[in-house]
Amino acid sequence: MKKWSATRAPAGRVAYVNGRYLPLGEASVHVEDRALQLGDGIYEVSNVLNGAPTDEDAHLDRMERSLRELGIPMPMGRPALKFVMREMIARNRIANGFLYIQVTRGAVKRDHVPPENPPRPTVIMTMRGQDMAALAKRMEQGIGVSSQPDIRWGRCDIKTVQLLPNLLAKQAARKTGAFEAWMVDRDGFVTEGASTNAWIVAADGTVITRDLTNAILPGVTRRIMLEAMAEAQIKLVERKFTVAEAKAAKEAFISSATGAAVPVTSIDGEKIGDGTVGPVTRRIRELYAARSAAQGSFGPSRP
Ligand code: PDD
Repeated sequence: MKKWSATRAPAGRVAYVNGRYLPLGEASVHVEDRALQLGDGIYEVSNVLNGAPTDEDAHLDRMERSLRELGIPMPMGRPALKFVMREMIARNRIANGFLYIQVTRGAVKRDHVPPENPPRPTVIMTMRGQDMAALAKRMEQGIGVSSQPDIRWGRCDIKTVQLLPNLLAKQAARKTGAFEAWMVDRDGFVTEGASTNAWIVAADGTVITRDLTNAILPGVTRRIMLEAMAEAQIKLVERKFTVAEAKAAKEAFISSATGAAVPVTSIDGEKIGDGTVGPVTRRIRELYAARSAAQGSFGPSRP
């Protein structure tokens, strides 16, 4: 007799691949999947709070856009995707964590040219729990960032699975003791973090983040935070800023589905403001948290 049930994997150990829910160790894709061979795919990461995906439609809107930009068809309708997302949350028994979705162009004989008769896209979903204690520590103590050259391609607005430059930048940052890398373009302006958007607060309290172009990912958290700030009448400007301007800022922070308004208390080892978490960052975090909490509801509700 088996020691533990094959139908009930431990929390966070269930993957979804092309219509099937499988224990993580048994889930796999074809060796000729174009994401594996050519990086031909996109992804999304959604926060899960109290058992519900946060900013779900905004993530699915961006997913549709990424797929459209690459000419990959939507693998299934939105209600079906939402159903699978809820099923994943329930089967993984994770109330607070992250849901990862990858969609690739599918498996087909290797060729750079995307096939004229496209295969069925591959859909993968995995989940993992949020380390609440580690996040709380980052929120209270702030993080350090390290400036690194942005060596990515010209379409950083598409959320593709090609993350090599991002991970090299993050690895270089970690070697300096920093938590995140702020990538810097050839003209000395910060584009964004390796997996986050970058923000600063000027001396007069104006919040500044880079404007949306092909140089950065249009962060879902960024968008929701901008809406919340506008509603709260916080002064905002979407424009470029240099590393020098960031180092002289009153406050700085990062945003992503994995953490909204995480304070940045040092850049390249230089203190930002007085080196503690600033009031504007705290306020924005509260505004975002209030919006997320309004969406949360425990339990696998149906779309
Ligand atoms: N990263 N910029 C980059 C390059 C990112 O990879 C991300 C997200 C963001 C923030 O986007 P959003 O607010 O929609 O999460 C900005 C995810 C979390 C990741 O790769 O794990």
